[in-house]
Amino acid sequence: MNKSDKIYIAGHRGMVGSAIIRVLKDQGFENIITRTHSELDLTIQQQVQEFFSQEKPDQVYLAAAKVGGIFANDMYPADFIYENLMIEANIIHSAFKSGVKKLLFLGSSCIYPKLADQPMSEDALLSGYLEPTNEPYAVAKIAGIKLCESYNRQYGESHGIDYRSVMPTNLYGPGDNYHPENSHVIPALIRRFHEAKINKEERVIVWGSGKPKREFLYVDDMASASVHVMKLEKATYKKNTSEMCSHINVGMGEDLSIGELARLIKKVIGFDGKIEFDSSKPDGSPRKLIDSSRLNNLGWNSKFNLETGLQKTYSEFKKVN
Ligand SMILES: NC(=O)c1ccc[n+]([C@@H]2O[C@H](COP(=O)([O-])OP(=O)(O)OC[C@H]3O[C@@H](n4cnc5c(N)ncnc54)[C@H](OP(=O)(O)O)[C@@H]3O)[C@@H](O)[C@H]2O)c1
Repeated sequence: MNKSDKIYIAGHRGMVGSAIIRVLKDQGFENIITRTHSELDLTIQQQVQEFFSQEKPDQVYLAAAKVGGIFANDMYPADFIYENLMIEANIIHSAFKSGVKKLLFLGSSCIYPKLADQPMSEDALLSGYLEPTNEPYAVAKIAGIKLCESYNRQYGESHGIDYRSVMPTNLYGPGDNYHPENSHVIPALIRRFHEAKINKEERVIVWGSGKPKREFLYVDDMASASVHVMKLEKATYKKNTSEMCSHINVGMGEDLSIGELARLIKKVIGFDGKIEFDSSKPDGSPRKLIDSSRLNNLGWNSKFNLETGLQKTYSEFKKVN
């Protein structure tokens, strides 16, 4: 990768897009271009085409998406599938048309079947039924991987394009969404424990039994993994993936129960009360851990342990709340 390459970050105001910018700038990449949602609506094909034909970036990080937790996915399935399909199709096609050679598509571990063997390796994709609550979102993310693969297969040789995909586990960190209904588990728990501490409440109620196990990755690790994957030699990437299973998992490599997570967040926040689990609320899958050995074998490992990541996240949260 050339330090003077013009790099477009789609979704630069988001949690992941902003972290990718931090990592790229740290590594000396200065020619970064961005557009806010109001300047460029990525669901509108004409706007995206015009942007790419004017700007002609060398590389693209596709970190723009409609993202949300179970509640939002359940309430707005049409928005989740439509907006994500449009964003991906518009960006990937316009990037190709304007001569972009390198692109990184960011997916999610929800692309894997609900009952996939644990830890879930890349080849579990399309081997079974998806979790119904976020199936529309997952289908759009699978389409994004298949778009990259199809453009590589059809135009890789003739046009020298190299479009890659990474599938992160659950992410958290500065810039996360703390909305009471639309947030993921870590920001939701940070908000609840923080408010309970401020209001001197006796207990915090956590949804579900606390037994399901999940994996979490600090967003700066995700950003460093994204840049690492983009920097891999084409031959190395090809050797470690296959034409129709070209994505790479990005995880921490270990999981913990929601109960353990809640106790850790309680400690980081300094809440003195009790934790109660509301088992009448659904638990979801018993375990969701991805197999990151493909990426580890390519020389990347996570840097932040969960407690350090949560401390950094909470100190950012306090600055804006
Ligand atoms: N967060 C996680 O736990 C997690 C886990 C796995 C994978 N990922 C993936 O990582 C990527 C980034 O996620 P994130 O957590 O950074 O999400 P985020 O914080 O919600 O950021 C998404 C960004 O996309 C922008 N965007 C959405 N729709 C747009 C549109 N139509 N036109 C222009 N911009 C638009 C948003 O702008 P506005 O806010 O202005 O709309 C926002 O800046 C996504 O592909 C997601 O699937 C995230």
